[in-house]
Amino acid sequence: MAEQKSFGEELEAADDVPVPRETSPSLAALWQRRLARRDVLRGFGKAALLASVSPAILSLAACDEAPEVRPDAIFGFEEVQGGIDETHHVAADHNADILIRWGDPVLADAPPFDIANQNAASQLARFGYNNDFIGFVPLPYGSAASTRGLLCVHHEYTNDDLMYPDYPAGDPRAFYTREIVEISMAAHGGTIVEVARGEDGRWQTVPDSAYNRRLTPLSTAMGISGPAAGHERLKTNEDPSGTMVMGTFNNCAGGITPWGTWLMSEENINFYFIGENADEREAANHTRMGVPGSRSYPWGYFHKRFDLSREPREPNRYGWVVEVDPLDPNSTPVKRTALGRFKHEGCENARTADGRLAIYMGDDQAFEYLYKFVTAGTVSGDRAANMSLLDEGTLYVARFEEDGSGTWMPLVHGENGLDETNGFASQADVAIEARRAADILGATPLDRPEDVQPNEATGRVYVALTNSKEREKTDAVNPRAGNLWGQIVELAPEGGDHGAAAFAWTMLVKCGDPRFPAIGAEWNPDLGSDQWFVCPDNMAADPSGRLWVATDQGSGWNAASGAADGLYALATTGDKRGIARRIFRAPVGAEVCGPCFTPDGTTLFLAVQHPGADGTKDFKGFERSSTFADPATRWPDFAPGMPPRPSILAITAKNGGPVGG
Ligand code: FEO
Ligand code: CA
Ligand code: CA
Repeated sequence: MAEQKSFGEELEAADDVPVPRETSPSLAALWQRRLARRDVLRGFGKAALLASVSPAILSLAACDEAPEVRPDAIFGFEEVQGGIDETHHVAADHNADILIRWGDPVLADAPPFDIANQNAASQLARFGYNNDFIGFVPLPYGSAASTRGLLCVHHEYTNDDLMYPDYPAGDPRAFYTREIVEISMAAHGGTIVEVARGEDGRWQTVPDSAYNRRLTPLSTAMGISGPAAGHERLKTNEDPSGTMVMGTFNNCAGGITPWGTWLMSEENINFYFIGENADEREAANHTRMGVPGSRSYPWGYFHKRFDLSREPREPNRYGWVVEVDPLDPNSTPVKRTALGRFKHEGCENARTADGRLAIYMGDDQAFEYLYKFVTAGTVSGDRAANMSLLDEGTLYVARFEEDGSGTWMPLVHGENGLDETNGFASQADVAIEARRAADILGATPLDRPEDVQPNEATGRVYVALTNSKEREKTDAVNPRAGNLWGQIVELAPEGGDHGAAAFAWTMLVKCGDPRFPAIGAEWNPDLGSDQWFVCPDNMAADPSGRLWVATDQGSGWNAASGAADGLYALATTGDKRGIARRIFRAPVGAEVCGPCFTPDGTTLFLAVQHPGADGTKDFKGFERSSTFADPATRWPDFAPGMPPRPSILAITAKNGGPVGG
């Protein structure tokens, strides 16, 4: 009999399962012929990837505090060894201080956290659950300050079974009340909280800051802009205009724009809808997005907009990227539909050669695609002028060729079969059903594209393909069947221009334990015995251009690596390219998310998500389900009666220098 999974484990595992789709071989073949005619490697190619790197000037380097850009710099810290236990570990020459935990106050009027007496109103004033992406916006705005700023944090989902003292062991349906559902809703979304570094070097939240804000699916009205705004397919009983929606949820990785706004992705939105779809027009669309989820949160029993039998178009109002202005606590966040609708993992950006903005986005599910949006306009020095920049531009999807070349194919209505003959009446339809549009163009199905990280110091772009257990047929970019371990692919935009339609790609690392040839891992040949990882997820480039990778093995950690998730420095240039070093190890059941550096590189904010939740049955000495009463760990408080709490840490070097040496 299959082992009973917790809800959180089921939610994580659901990414592994592809959704059914129909492709149009004729159009895919058309693209193939078109590509064959072109010399996509002209003037550049694999050789260029190996050539010496000439670092571009970081936008942050204008500040006196910014460190030298040196992507080939040696990491100078003592590695944390692999293993798994109830707590976190950081490299010996670093501090890792807990900055904020689920339940800690965000708004000044939050009463003390009482785990036994939670309510929705109070949760709306507190830090949410399952912190994922972290963005840092220095204060004052426009500075490169590294001692004061705004943290913008996603709260991806909730582990209800670890949150509530009375959560039942069996069927939870009778347990849920409107109040419980609304506590969980209030623990989703995002947090903006001001943080400052004191004279003692320690970071603290600023409890009475006017910037502090919670954004939730219970409380925060959001606008909708771009091609799908006001479209019939976005109209509901609550919002007959199709231009206003209550909140955001399942926000995973994300991004901060050059003008200091925060981009919140919406990922596994299907797990929030119940009921039978009442609109035939949306049937195929919902199937393609996995709506409703195989096991969804019970929100729809109390908030009818999550019930497809009542509001079959509500799912079309999620799966977008939301732009938030953290500098204006009264601003209305806006869903930017020009960036397409799919299971958005992240949205990190880079400037094109002509000053527009390119935003890279993964769609995290087995056999889904890699996307890029390029704005029509250029980034302006006038902040207000940038506020509508994401409404006009071109969405592209990636096609990877076996020879190491690749193309960004435009998802534009009226072109390449994206027209009435395939059910696309306008760009709104293309945006709403971006996945199906990408199918028609013959995009390359990938091994679960998670975070995509442009590195401004090298001009390269890193794509974390986290794993794909279901893969049978392999190709060059997805080279292993039954892939438990994942890989990181390096893209070099043609001519070093993020606006270019062509790119070259190469495999940076094929993850897994290199001691077992059957795994097929590929690292630097000089790799030490513990200098590897599996299941890359969130990534960051530090201010000197070095790459950092956080891992998420989910409940399969024991089969994938046998050790806890962590954060790793990964050399991408020079003779150490492809060597990883672990700087941080997570407590049992947690994944590591949101690596985020201050502009001077001396602080690394890091999110520990779902401690005590994933795969705890494999934790030696525990070997049972982790519950509120009996959790696999009580990290980070280790206080009787307190369950594990997702938390953000501030990591600093003891010598006051850059994190990682
Ligand atoms: Fe939310 Fe794809 O990790
Ligand atoms: Ca992720
Ligand atoms: Ca993940």
